Amino acid sequence: MSSKARIELPPKLIPVFSGPARYRGAHGGRGSGKTRSFALMTAVRAYMFAEAGVSGKILCGREYMNSLEDSSMEEVKQAILSVPWLDAYFDIGEKYIRTKNRRVSYAFAGLRHSLNSIKSKARILIAWVDEAEDVSETAWIKLRPTVREAGSEIWVTWNPEKDGSPTDKRFRKSPPVNSRIAELNYTDNPWFPPELDEERLNDRNLLDDQTYAWIWDGAYRENSEAQILSGKYRVAEFTPAADWDGPYFGIDWGFSQDPTAGVKCWIHDQRLYIEHEAGKVGLENDDIADFMIARLPGIESHAVRADSARPETISHVKSNGRDTRKCLPRIVGVEKWKGSVEDGIAHLRSYREIVIHPRCTKTLHEARTYSYKVDRLTGDVLTDIVDKNNHYIDASRYALAPLIKRRGAAIVQPLRM
Ligand SMILES: Nc1ncnc2c1ncn2[C@@H]1O[C@H](COP(=O)(O)OP(=O)(O)OP(=O)(O)O)[C@@H](O)[C@H]1O
Ligand SMILES: [Mg+2]
Repeated sequence: MSSKARIELPPKLIPVFSGPARYRGAHGGRGSGKTRSFALMTAVRAYMFAEAGVSGKILCGREYMNSLEDSSMEEVKQAILSVPWLDAYFDIGEKYIRTKNRRVSYAFAGLRHSLNSIKSKARILIAWVDEAEDVSETAWIKLRPTVREAGSEIWVTWNPEKDGSPTDKRFRKSPPVNSRIAELNYTDNPWFPPELDEERLNDRNLLDDQTYAWIWDGAYRENSEAQILSGKYRVAEFTPAADWDGPYFGIDWGFSQDPTAGVKCWIHDQRLYIEHEAGKVGLENDDIADFMIARLPGIESHAVRADSARPETISHVKSNGRDTRKCLPRIVGVEKWKGSVEDGIAHLRSYREIVIHPRCTKTLHEARTYSYKVDRLTGDVLTDIVDKNNHYIDASRYALAPLIKRRGAAIVQPLRM
């Protein structure tokens, strides 16, 4: 390559393309620049091979490809056209792409149905598989020994979906030796187009949090049955209106391991809105009221419902040595009963949605991670609840205690207070 030849890549991909490797790859969410960057680099490498007198093919594979239109051909063309010195070096036809000196040409193939013809394709220099999440184990097994030229490489780009898919296992869970693989998301793409950002912001409002994280943040698409609030919550900004029910305040006590956690929430249109959270590990009894007043607006003048397991804490916070600026005079302990946790969860799940304000990051984390136990041997989801990741969720249950019916009856219509 001439010393002036330059191309630009998202910075996270620089190490992926630096130095020797048998495998290079990137996984992540939509619009992160994976396809464009790898397409561009195939052309750079085709240029380098051809200049070095090496002839052969760049194979662009997908699991399924019925026609060239399903292939990466258009992406490769666009990438080449975008860089003048590459554009000048390639001959681009309707159905082919090759270097003008004809040493290196592109081939496009569906791995599922054309594996045998791929095997006979002479001298594959680079095999790049885009949209690789759906590539089967069989295809990977057959492809690898097919790419056998000295210095040949296999490139893989994909949007993760299933934790443990063949591609996930091979290239992410236990990547092969001599591989350079990075995670890339839209925040890593310096050319992330405004049109896509608009789509992203729409999805932020429309989709539940897990689906959003799958599409845009490169997360697995897990709607695991073990997650207690799966499919129920999403993140969105909101401002409570005058006709909303609430606010409702709840506190769960912690100390050395667990945080003392409080929430402020609302109900409107059969939706639960979590507007503010406040929590801290090691919060001293003397400081609780002050801490909550600073973070949960209005808590000092409203009813506050808290875990009844610590009556002495409740009594302390209620009067706080009669310093009325630092107490929660209307705090009460909430009743517990056998099955009250399950009944509380049934109540939380009975809302059309639980909308979590983006500032409530710990509540969001719990909404994602609060889980049922899973059988260690079979993977079956059990009925027992893992007593972890539940402090802000518990605070929300306490906040809503008067609305929760005993014995797991599904409550669809929250009461007006
Ligand atoms: N090097 C670049 N120069 C200019 N624009 C770029 C470049 N890389 C990416 N882009 C822009 O970012 C957009 C998204 O990139 P790309 O299609 O490669 O992302 P992707 O990660 O493959 O997304 P998807 O998961 O949707 O397939 C492109 O359509 C293009 O507008
Ligand atoms: Mg892509």
